[in-house]
Amino acid sequence: MTPVARLFRTKPTERIVAEGGHGEGGELRRTMSLWQLTLFSVGATLGTGIFVILGQAVPKAGPAVVLSFVLAAFTALLSALSYAELAGTIPVSGSSYSYAYATMGELVAWVCGWCLMLEYAVSVAAVAVGWGGYLNAFLRSLAGVELPAAITASPGQDGGVVNLPAILIVALATWLLLHGASESARANAVFVLIKVAVLLFFCAVAFTAFRAGNLTPFAPLGLAGVTAAASQVFFSYIGFDAASTAGEEARNPRRDLPLAILLSLAVVTAVYVLVAVAAVGARPWTEFDPESTEASLSAIADEAAGATWPGLVVSFGAVVAIASVVLTVLYGQTRILFAMSRDGLVPRVFQRVDPRRQVPVANTLIVALFVSVLAGLVPLGQLAEATSIGTLFAFALVNVGVVVLRRRRPDLPRGFRVPFFPVTPVLGAVMCVVVMAGLAGVTWAAFGLWMAAGLACYFLYGFRRSRLNTEAA
Ligand code: ALA
Repeated sequence: MTPVARLFRTKPTERIVAEGGHGEGGELRRTMSLWQLTLFSVGATLGTGIFVILGQAVPKAGPAVVLSFVLAAFTALLSALSYAELAGTIPVSGSSYSYAYATMGELVAWVCGWCLMLEYAVSVAAVAVGWGGYLNAFLRSLAGVELPAAITASPGQDGGVVNLPAILIVALATWLLLHGASESARANAVFVLIKVAVLLFFCAVAFTAFRAGNLTPFAPLGLAGVTAAASQVFFSYIGFDAASTAGEEARNPRRDLPLAILLSLAVVTAVYVLVAVAAVGARPWTEFDPESTEASLSAIADEAAGATWPGLVVSFGAVVAIASVVLTVLYGQTRILFAMSRDGLVPRVFQRVDPRRQVPVANTLIVALFVSVLAGLVPLGQLAEATSIGTLFAFALVNVGVVVLRRRRPDLPRGFRVPFFPVTPVLGAVMCVVVMAGLAGVTWAAFGLWMAAGLACYFLYGFRRSRLNTEAA
């Protein structure tokens, strides 16, 4: 086989599915129910987007930011449908990496897996960094104390030395993950119920200060404003695909993965739209600050109630919300590497399963160490922004993957089928490219550098070690 043909060799779907669950030294355990999978995706999705980015997006669109959330949800839905179809057909932990391997070949699969590292490992580091800010806001309102900058910021930022809260939250999530997927899913369910309850509490408080007058004019910056804000809030929907990384630990993956992905998106959209209506109904849109940080929802709650305790509850909700994002996204990264390792594209240590705990222990510890160093010591800046591009690129590939697999393997059993095929996945891919095009040039440059590093890794390591290639040799 020529080297070029090797780059585009696909892995047979049946083989990907048959290898599911098996690691070196042990097996993963199928324990997750539909309910836990749904909450896993909600856990990974509902985070900084609603607590911070809502406030920043209002000045772009006015009260019509509500429509921006609906528009972003529609964009996410197109890709979610494609994820649902492929997760129900190829229910393994590699998520879009494995789907790409089955449809577009090894090089595209590697590129996809490398993008997923932006969506998972790099973004979880960025989210952990943000967690310190929420913890500080909470402690400030609770007891008037503030942690010193030396231990809450990365080196080079406002006198920071190391971001200890970021390391702490990664360590806590790792500790839970080492106990097992089912235990982590149970803890996540509690976190998710708390964060949804806090957001509903926010809505209840904010609705007491609701003025219909705040909603007029509804779209002062026109359609352009609504779409610009939609690009920005798209970030808040990233994560609905997290359940697809649990394909090898789900009890009934073919039926439950598609349902979990779609249900989580429905829950998250309902919560976002409700929170957005409550926020712009309670405070005139002109008073939102585009530079606002974590405090914006807390401040609205305090203004609406004329007291300071509702803001405290909201800050607490943010602390819990981000904790569950860290837990679920960290989990996703370990399982994607698990699948990539089984294919020989990353070192074998990532597929080793502890026979007693039925967890990839070494993999989890390596990912946690990497994320901690990134979160504690590196000012992430542009790389964090590149996470949206990487995610959208992976989403676009999943949409294309649906079309390819329907053409090549119409016979495969599918737990779910995208409606209005091929319009839905084609539109899904186009929407991903449209949102990507709206991102800043510097973000594209960071993404370009990331991809160049990824290709270098592939040609230096994976290309030669890939199991498909070593077996054929
Ligand atoms: N959707 C995730 C959040 O909003 C990334 O934090």
